[in-house]
Order: sequence, then structure tokens, then C-alpha cells
Amino acid sequence: MSEAMQRYYAQRAPIYDAVYAKPERQAELRALERRLPRLLAGRAVLEVACGTGYWTQFIAPRAARLTATDINAEPLALARQRPGVERVTFAQADAYALRAALGTFDAAFAGLWFSHVPIERRGEFLRGLHARLAPGALVVLLDNTEAQLRDLPLAERDAAGNTWQHRVLPDGSVHRVLKNFPTREELHALVAGIATQARLRRGEHFWEFRYRLAA
Ligand SMILES: C[S@@+](CC[C@H](N)C(=O)[O-])C[C@H]1O[C@@H](n2cnc3c(N)ncnc32)[C@H](O)[C@@H]1O
Repeated sequence: MSEAMQRYYAQRAPIYDAVYAKPERQAELRALERRLPRLLAGRAVLEVACGTGYWTQFIAPRAARLTATDINAEPLALARQRPGVERVTFAQADAYALRAALGTFDAAFAGLWFSHVPIERRGEFLRGLHARLAPGALVVLLDNTEAQLRDLPLAERDAAGNTWQHRVLPDGSVHRVLKNFPTREELHALVAGIATQARLRRGEHFWEFRYRLAA
């Protein structure tokens, strides 16, 4: 994610949770709020780009331990105030430079992050993430389906195939935000040969891609 997008999310932090208030998303959200913690129960979880900690609050009570990271201090400050996160270790970290000092984990989770990874950096992101995980670890990526385009249509497509939205913040500023919608084939190809049990579940508003690193 570019520095411009990093600043956009720092500025957007106080109003970010509006994405979880959209009426049409509620049924799917309730199901995911039950399902994701179950998937990650009992594991040492590394969360990438945790933002305001929406998913952190549900995963934390069931995880053996959880380290939740984000590049921006603003959303992290809000995440720390969520109920149920008392045992969570929060850390400022760049998703493309997850340092060894964060520890070793047997699961990873990233919510609404992968769509912001440029196509040409997907491999780099996943290699860096996998370096923090033990063999056999479970990885769960959750993101928006194209239903999100009803509110935020695509404005541009670049030469690499990345798609971009123009988003407006309450102060009227307009931000060019990279938002990709990877296909099933692209997701599976990214982990071919390094993962087992790769599975994509597509709902109306969210997709969930999960796999296990080869042991
Ligand atoms: C769409 S939000 C997702 C927040 C949260 N995971 C959720 O599902 O609600 C994207 C988050 O990525 C963070 N971010 C942007 N660039 C980043 C980077 N290079 N490394 C880690 N986090 C980054 C932003 O600060 C923002 O909190």
C-alpha cells in the first residue's frame, strides 16, 4: 500500500467502522463473527492490518494468543479500546516488513487488506507473512466481493491490472485508493505448491480464502 493510502486510512480511522454498519452486510457479518474465531481458536495468531480492531475483538477471546498489527497509530489506538482485547499484543508494523521480533505464529489473519495489495506485490506480501509462520500454519484472508463496487465504483485500471477507486472523506478530500478483486484462480495460483487445503468461500459481500502452509 502506498504512503498516500496509508495516510488515507490514518485520516479515516475515526469513521472507518461505518463499513460494518451497512444494513445489507449485517447477516453475513454475524455469520463471520462466529465463524472466524472458530477457525482460529486455540492458535497463536498474527493479524495484519488490523485497523480499528473490528475482527480482533472477535478473534482474541478464542485465540491462544494474538498479535494485531497495523502500519498506522490512529486505528491501533481505537483497536486498543475494543472490548475483549485485554490479552492482545498490539504493534505498529508494515505488512510488507513483518519483523522476526513479532514472534512465530501458527495462524495468520488479514481482514479487508489483501484487496489493497497491488497485484505486483502479492507474492512479496505472502512470502513476508509466511516467514513469520510455522510449518502447517493456517492463513485466513477475508475481503470484499465486487458488491462493494455498488457504493464505490472503479475509477481507473492501471497497466498492471490494479483497479482504483476515488474515495471522499468527510472533509471533502478525494483519495485515489487501490482496491482489487482477485479471482478464484489468482488466489489459488498464489499458494500453489506451498499450501494445502486452499479453499475460497464467496458470500455476497465478503470472500474468505484459507489455506494451510505445507508442513
Ligand atoms: C481496509 S482497512 C482494514 C482494517 C481491518 N483489518 C478491518 O478488516 O476492518 C486497511 C488497513 O490497512 C492499514 N495499512 C495500510 N498500509 C499498511 C501497511 N503497509 N502495512 C500494514 N497495515 C497497513 C491501514 O492503516 C488500515 O487500518
